[in-house]
Amino acid sequence: MKTTLFCFSGSGNSYWVATQLASRLGDATVVMVPSLLESEKIALTERIGFVYPVYKFFPPNLLTYFVEEVLSQQEVEHVDYLFHITTYNLASGWAEYAMESSLMKAGFGTSYSSRVRMPDTYVPLFKTAGKERIERYYRDAETKVAAIADEIEKGAIKVGRQVLAARSATRFLMKPIQRALMDEARSFIVTDACTSCGQCYRICPSANIEMVGGKPSWDRLCSGCYACYHRCPTEAIRFRHPVRGGHYPNGRSGYNVEYRQ
Ligand SMILES: Cc1cc2nc3c(=O)[nH]c(=O)nc-3n(C[C@H](O)[C@H](O)[C@H](O)COP(=O)(O)O)c2cc1C
Repeated sequence: MKTTLFCFSGSGNSYWVATQLASRLGDATVVMVPSLLESEKIALTERIGFVYPVYKFFPPNLLTYFVEEVLSQQEVEHVDYLFHITTYNLASGWAEYAMESSLMKAGFGTSYSSRVRMPDTYVPLFKTAGKERIERYYRDAETKVAAIADEIEKGAIKVGRQVLAARSATRFLMKPIQRALMDEARSFIVTDACTSCGQCYRICPSANIEMVGGKPSWDRLCSGCYACYHRCPTEAIRFRHPVRGGHYPNGRSGYNVEYRQ
């Protein structure tokens, strides 16, 4: 069965899970959500899936926008099986429920959902894992992805554990939290280590960075993914305020997609 995997990723964790899953499912293509925002017609296969991170207990704002505003305009008749997988570190919060509810609004029902634990990218609160710990996360994730792929191949029907009050949380908290994340980049500064390579400009999934005088300047359309921070080759992007974690360039993920030239 043909599968289309819609993916959003900041540091590359979700991208890695999506590509692993695609190779286990066989005839599967990974497409990046930020590249589809202007699409009028998206060809949907019999099986579609989503792989995305949890940001502050909910799916990324740009993914919610994609599902509710872009996917909702597509023809859904051919879709027989729909799944979504979150990547998270500590607590996936209401992300699975929120995703289901956005999909429902767009006219889709969920057949299967699950989650994969990956290294944390939320540096304001958490220390970045060391090399060995990261390898362990990846090893465990590989086992989990294999199990998920088996279940999907069998056509398993399984929707996420609904954490307490998921419905009210999604209704009252999701939009304010997602809106607040749009300003997340205002915490970033750039140091003299910046070489003006423009990678942050090209990889930002929200096209939220302009190069001004050769240095990044952030607007207010951030997804809070920290791609610019983690993937800056010279670690020139920093927070204005003290944070607990360092940089997590995540070369392990193979994520080098650029959204702009
Ligand atoms: C702004 C931000 C908020 C996050 N919030 C949560 C959270 O609420 N719960 C959680 O378990 N992990 C959280 N994380 C960690 C990510 O969900 C996790 O590292 C994920 O695998 C990152 O995937 P990505 O590299 O595809 O963006 C957060 C990370 C960021 C950058």
